[in-house]
Amino acid sequence: MHSPDGFPVPLIRIRETNSTNLYLNHLCNETVQAEFTTVISRYQTAGRGQRGNSWESEDGKNLLFSFVLYPGFLEAKRQFLLSQIISLAIKETLDVYTNDISIKWPNDIYWKDKKICGMLIEHNLAGSYIERSIAGIGININQQQFFSPAPNPVSLWQITGKEENPVEIASDIMQRVQEYYRLLRQDAVEQIGVRYQKSLFRRNGLHSYKDAEGEFKAAILRVEPEGRLILKDESGKERGYMFKEIEFRFTD
Ligand code: BTN
Repeated sequence: MHSPDGFPVPLIRIRETNSTNLYLNHLCNETVQAEFTTVISRYQTAGRGQRGNSWESEDGKNLLFSFVLYPGFLEAKRQFLLSQIISLAIKETLDVYTNDISIKWPNDIYWKDKKICGMLIEHNLAGSYIERSIAGIGININQQQFFSPAPNPVSLWQITGKEENPVEIASDIMQRVQEYYRLLRQDAVEQIGVRYQKSLFRRNGLHSYKDAEGEFKAAILRVEPEGRLILKDESGKERGYMFKEIEFRFTD
C-alpha cells in the first residue's frame, strides 16, 4: 500500500496530538496497521524525549513522526540494530542537505557538536523477541530559536538558512528505512555495524567523557553489536559502557 501523494509507506497526517508515539501506539492497539505506517503531526502537546525529558518543537516548523515495525525475527537483546538502521537512514537523508552530520552514540543525530534530531524507540516484546517497535523521531527543520533547557539544539534552517518541507524529508527517510530494514532481515549486521561506526560522532581523536567515577579523556574504539560503547582512555585502559552509563562532555 502506498499513499496517494507519493509517500513511500502508508501515511497519516494530523494537525496535533500529545505525542506521535502515543497516537500510533493507540492506533495499533485498536486496529492492525501495516508495517512502516507513519504518523506525522505538525504539533505535539506533550512530545516525549529520552530519560523522561520533553521534546521542544514549535508548531508547524519541524518534523515530528513515528512509524511502526514488526521485527518478530529480532531477539530483544539485538534491539540496538534497529537504532543503528534508523540512525543511518536519518543521517544519510540529512547528508543531502548539509555536511558534518554524525550519529552520537547511541542514537542522537548531530550536526557538528549540536543536536539536530532525537529518537525514542519503544518495543513490545513477545518472549525474547520483539513483536512491535514504534520509532518516534523529532528533527529540527525550520525552527529559528529554541527555548527549552535542552543543551545544544540546532535546526536545518540555522545551518543552511533555507526552509525545507518536513514531509519530503520524512519521505526520504522512510525510503531509506525500508532499504536498511531489508538488510536487517537478511542479517547483514556486519555491513550495518561498519556503516554505523563510520558515521559516529567523535569517531577520531581524544574527547572528554564523564562516568560514575568522574571526567576523563578517551577515544572511541568501537561499538559492540549489542550497543556497548568501548572507549580507550589516556592510560590505554579500555572502558565499556551501556546506555546512560556515560555522558559526553563538551568542554574540549
Ligand atoms: C530525545 O530525547 O532525544 C528523543 C526525542 C524524540 C522526539 C520524538 S518527536 C516524535 C516522537 N513523539 C514523541 O513524543 N517523541 C518522539
